[in-house]
Amino acid sequence: MMRWRGAMLDISRHYFDADFIKKTISSLAIFDYNTVHLHLTDDQGWRLESKVFPLLHEVGSIRKHSQNNHGQLEATFDGIEHSGYLTHEDVQKIIRHATSLGIQVVPEINIPGHTGALLAAYPQFGINQKHVEVSGRWGISDYLLRPFPETFEFLEKVFQEVAQLFPSEYIHVGGDESLINNWLLDPEVVAWMKSQGFTTTKEIFIFFMKEVEIIINNLGKKMVTWDDAFAFDPEHATQAAVMSWRGAAIAQIALDYGREVIQGPVFPTYFDYSQEVSSAEPLAIGGPVTFDDVLAFTPLPGATGVQFQLWSEYIQSPIHAEYMMWPRAAALAFRCWGDGDSFEDYFDQRRAKLEALGVTIRDPDPLKRVDITHLGIGEYNRGFDTAHMMQALEKSAIAGEVAEFN
Ligand code: ACM
Repeated sequence: MMRWRGAMLDISRHYFDADFIKKTISSLAIFDYNTVHLHLTDDQGWRLESKVFPLLHEVGSIRKHSQNNHGQLEATFDGIEHSGYLTHEDVQKIIRHATSLGIQVVPEINIPGHTGALLAAYPQFGINQKHVEVSGRWGISDYLLRPFPETFEFLEKVFQEVAQLFPSEYIHVGGDESLINNWLLDPEVVAWMKSQGFTTTKEIFIFFMKEVEIIINNLGKKMVTWDDAFAFDPEHATQAAVMSWRGAAIAQIALDYGREVIQGPVFPTYFDYSQEVSSAEPLAIGGPVTFDDVLAFTPLPGATGVQFQLWSEYIQSPIHAEYMMWPRAAALAFRCWGDGDSFEDYFDQRRAKLEALGVTIRDPDPLKRVDITHLGIGEYNRGFDTAHMMQALEKSAIAGEVAEFN
């Protein structure tokens, strides 16, 4: 079987508690998943207790409101505070449960972009040391950590605490969608850049990620990043495992450069995308990513693994999260590491166990389907030109640029 059989849960955009994470781990184990990647931090929330830097969870886990329409529209907000974080005890419970089912829990602390919640707590580490609020808005933000020694001393302590909590072989450090030219907005960064002899912000980025790689490796861990961190400059990028979300081409390049690759392409592994474009579906970031799309996915030879992503900008309840996961998570498992010739047989053999957990499964028959449209956070969207979007993502990856979608 494939070495990394993964599922990513984003508990930053909306918080999901330890009981839900444990239940999800139980459901994934039925389908031989062996890795749960927790996206713990982002602009919209820091979701892990820190005893070393307590403002991370005390300040970073609370936002005053959340966007309740699509991220590509002019934002409207719900006026409702959103908060929550995993305590150390929660993490220990999750890990004990996961370990008993043969699942590793990989934590992600996202840097140097996607750091709004971190900077709300500790603005001194951000460009221009500006006051920052935990964001209630979806989409890519301007926030960026400064590439200075004090930032790395801080990150070293953060990752030390994370490494002590999570026994996983890997730590994920994000590295996606960092608007690196924002470094040029900070005169102190510009002066430092000159003193280093750097002429491009990509050089700062590579320097930054290499410093982080040293921290992670010194903790006895392997580093994973999103493909952006590799694609900016494959020649000079860290040796970290590459989690490719922008298609097979960049994944193949990473393989050619000898990196471990975990494939998690938007199409068809972003399970926050709607399963069908229909007013019977709740608002989703994009889509469709159909059940059949998932069943047709073919991993690259040589890939270390495959992973689905459940981002949670538009998903705020466990029922909704499960509805987006099932049956697509089963289809991905069957396709990438399952046995037998027929998905129906494969799923039938396991369905009773999934149902015994009380998991919500989207039925292919609309008449039998649980109606969750009222749980969505806005009106459904009419769908995107998914082929065009994937092409644009692939192009941005090959060009080593930040993607314009998301
Ligand atoms: C990503 O979707 N920014 C990894």
